[in-house]
Amino acid sequence: MIKIAVLVSGSGSNLQALIDANLSGQIVGVISNKPDAFALQRAEKAKIATAVIEHKQYPSREAFDDVMHQQLLDWDVDLVILAGFMRILSAKFVKAWEGKMINIHPSLLPNYKGMHTHQRVLNTGDVFHGCTVHYVTAELDAGQALAQGVLKVNVHDHAESLADRVHVLEHVIYPQVAEWICNGTIQHTVDGVLYRNQPMQAPVQFCKF
Ligand code: GRF
Repeated sequence: MIKIAVLVSGSGSNLQALIDANLSGQIVGVISNKPDAFALQRAEKAKIATAVIEHKQYPSREAFDDVMHQQLLDWDVDLVILAGFMRILSAKFVKAWEGKMINIHPSLLPNYKGMHTHQRVLNTGDVFHGCTVHYVTAELDAGQALAQGVLKVNVHDHAESLADRVHVLEHVIYPQVAEWICNGTIQHTVDGVLYRNQPMQAPVQFCKF
């Protein structure tokens, strides 16, 4: 059975969706860089081990990442899921977990990497918006996309309403991708990413409109 660690910094609604999904893998631990993250309470309620590793207590990004890396090894983790984890990871850490670490980003990548995605979508006047689950690589928000949740922006939307609607989609697509990795539907191989044993050409799309 695949052993999963979830890295969080905040509310952890995506962690909750992963817990509630009863994945065929097991969430063996949750790491937070913030001691007051509500996600920690969610983990404790679900009887999942937690570790608080505060980035502020380490002299460098690499030193902080080394401690996280060791914790993941101690838990014998196969898959790392970033769920609202608000730290940029060092190249060394990303390399160590390449093909074993996924993230969810609130935009239709490759559009709107980085922050404030909802407002930027509104500023541009895009018709579609959503979220993307992708493998994590050294370049921010640039790893291979595995799934996207797509919604239609409507005239009454503002940044908060879009954030809320995107969150609902996140809670659908993130557990689905996690399950696909757990059960082998998605495989990261030396020849690329396979989906149902075929090379994955494009992210699987989930539409909500
Ligand atoms: C989500 O919007 C996700 O896209 C981003 O961080 C947020 C995490 O929310 N990476 P939560 O902590 O899971 O509620």
